[in-house]
Amino acid sequence: MAILNVASLLLLLPAALANKPRCFEFDHQIHASLTVPKFGVPEFGNSYESTAFLTGSVSRNANLSSLVTGQAQINRSFKIHFQYCEPEKCTRAPDVLQVLSHGVGFDHSYWDFGGNEYNYINSATAKGYATLSYDRLGVGRSELADPYSEIQVPTQVAILAEISSLLKAGKLSKKISAPKKLVHVGHSFGSLITNGLVAANPTLSDGVVLTGFSHNTSWTPLFELCLGFELAKSNNPRRFRSYDSGYLTWGNEFDNQCAFYTYPFFDTRVLREAEGVKAPFAISELLSFASVPLAAPNFTQPVLMISGQSDLPFCGGDCTGVFEGPASVSPFVFPAASPFASYIQPNAGHALNLHHNASGAYDVIHAFVKEHVH
Ligand SMILES: *[C@@H]1O[C@H](CO)[C@@H](O)[C@H](O)[C@H]1NC(C)=O
Ligand SMILES: *[C@@H]1O[C@H](CO)[C@@H](O)[C@H](O)[C@H]1NC(C)=O
Ligand SMILES: *[C@@H]1O[C@H](CO)[C@@H](O)[C@H](O)[C@H]1NC(C)=O
Ligand SMILES: *[C@@H]1O[C@H](CO)[C@@H](O)[C@H](O)[C@H]1NC(C)=O
Ligand SMILES: *[C@@H]1O[C@H](CO)[C@@H](O)[C@H](O)[C@H]1NC(C)=O
Repeated sequence: MAILNVASLLLLLPAALANKPRCFEFDHQIHASLTVPKFGVPEFGNSYESTAFLTGSVSRNANLSSLVTGQAQINRSFKIHFQYCEPEKCTRAPDVLQVLSHGVGFDHSYWDFGGNEYNYINSATAKGYATLSYDRLGVGRSELADPYSEIQVPTQVAILAEISSLLKAGKLSKKISAPKKLVHVGHSFGSLITNGLVAANPTLSDGVVLTGFSHNTSWTPLFELCLGFELAKSNNPRRFRSYDSGYLTWGNEFDNQCAFYTYPFFDTRVLREAEGVKAPFAISELLSFASVPLAAPNFTQPVLMISGQSDLPFCGGDCTGVFEGPASVSPFVFPAASPFASYIQPNAGHALNLHHNASGAYDVIHAFVKEHVH
């Protein structure tokens, strides 16, 4: 799927693949043992029921905490799908490995979507970094676990923690030696997981970059309303026939635009490509949005927050003053970060990597990592 994608974008971008990295993909069983909230959500029988659930959950009488009916134990391994890349011309493993966590609606191909402009991995390997991207639990070629109970933010954080520990010990794959430094980069939901990781395990990361993210959840309902909660299997039976009813997606490319893109700062062909390879999301993952602690008082490494200027889900369409300044809590989430920095990427929306000038944002990220992680 990622390959088709790259191939068709190449037609748009003939100069692509100049710095093609050396990559391989693999699966690994990742163990997670944790307690998660149990949600009293009845299984959706059809898209009318899932849509009613959405409108109910954003209505003025909604009480999401009343949905939590107890706790459940998770104690098992999940199959996770990975892609590792390193610079083509490197004789030994790079010192810094960047672990890339994608957001809702995408799979790991968010990080090397196509060509050179929409290719974070190419930009990172061209600067001498190795990268590890992966499909989140419940996405793409990772295990399609139970979307009503198992696929939650705390589970994703536990999985990222285990991945990071294995990497540090050189045990995720025989072909990946332990890097000197691990940097974690997230987009949107992947930033939430990355933030949760360093709040709970401040020693597992040597630097964090949170893209398409903030600590102000005021605008999350706008995002959810753009998405809509249609059953994935009825939205696209060809791709999602075998998905459980707890896997949801949005209706069409315009809903996708509403949530992730700011017009006219993107190529409509890129939006159409992204719609064609979109990934469903799990209901319990959205419900558990606020169930991991984010305050990271003991994280002393560098933190960069960077989002598109007109990001809707995390900035309400204008990021001015959201990351720093009197109305922002973000600097207090990372009081010991050295340094804490933020950047607003001009002329871009939420899906930072898929807007024009994405490579401009990549350069800001790599300059930050180069200056502060060593
Ligand atoms: C929301 O539900 C919880 C749990 O059932 C309850 O304790 C709380 O009082 C409710 N809040 C409101 C505003 O109704
Ligand atoms: C998880 O399962 C393993 C073996 O199946 C068991 O040894 C271990 O005690 C369990 N851990 C928890 C926290 O339940
Ligand atoms: C979120 O942003 C709004 C509008 O700028 C502001 O009033 C509010 O205090 C912010 N909340 C948090 C938790 O940062
Ligand atoms: C931070 O570290 C201190 C001292 O080790 C510890 O007491 C505290 O619980 C930690 N805080 C968090 C949020 O992990
Ligand atoms: C592209 O991004 C860079 C880095 O943020 C920025 O300096 C530049 O102004 C951007 N160009 C446009 C046309 O938005």
